[in-house]
Amino acid sequence: MADIRAIDAEGINRDAVELIRRRLLVLAQLSDLFPWSEFPPDESRDGNALYLLSQDDDHRFALYIQSVEDKTEAPPHDHLTWACIVGLEGEEINRKYDTGPRDGPPHVSDEFAVRPGTGIGFLPDDVHSIHISGGALNFHCYGHDLLDLPARNYWDEREQEWRTMKVQFPIIDVRS
Ligand SMILES: [Fe+2]
Repeated sequence: MADIRAIDAEGINRDAVELIRRRLLVLAQLSDLFPWSEFPPDESRDGNALYLLSQDDDHRFALYIQSVEDKTEAPPHDHLTWACIVGLEGEEINRKYDTGPRDGPPHVSDEFAVRPGTGIGFLPDDVHSIHISGGALNFHCYGHDLLDLPARNYWDEREQEWRTMKVQFPIIDVRS
């Protein structure tokens, strides 16, 4: 996290997010430290769980492990801060969109499968959706902690409009 703080301090742009992504890939090589058994999916939450590994006192630089037993989906959304997802186990499909909350309906521009040894990074305004089937264990790292972030933008498919949502689901704090 010290390395990531130092990268962030130089300013956030596409290159900086790429450096953060690479740093997390190095961390993910220590996958023995992050086994499924220590980060099990939460049966009471549709088989999903989010574990907080690290976060600064001022809410910046949050590192989580997302643990998904089988399936989960997140609609197109932004983050309002930089974000990186790096794979430990399983596969998380990330769809990228070339349209944001001010641009009308989202259009898929690219798709990337986050698997062990791969990852993806986003700038604050980038829009993605996630699709997991068959379970996955991933690092999710953000420039700001999810509970403290303002409401983020997401595409409501049923209402056919951009709306905002605040993260409310429980996060399991495993910082020692
Ligand atoms: Fe996201």
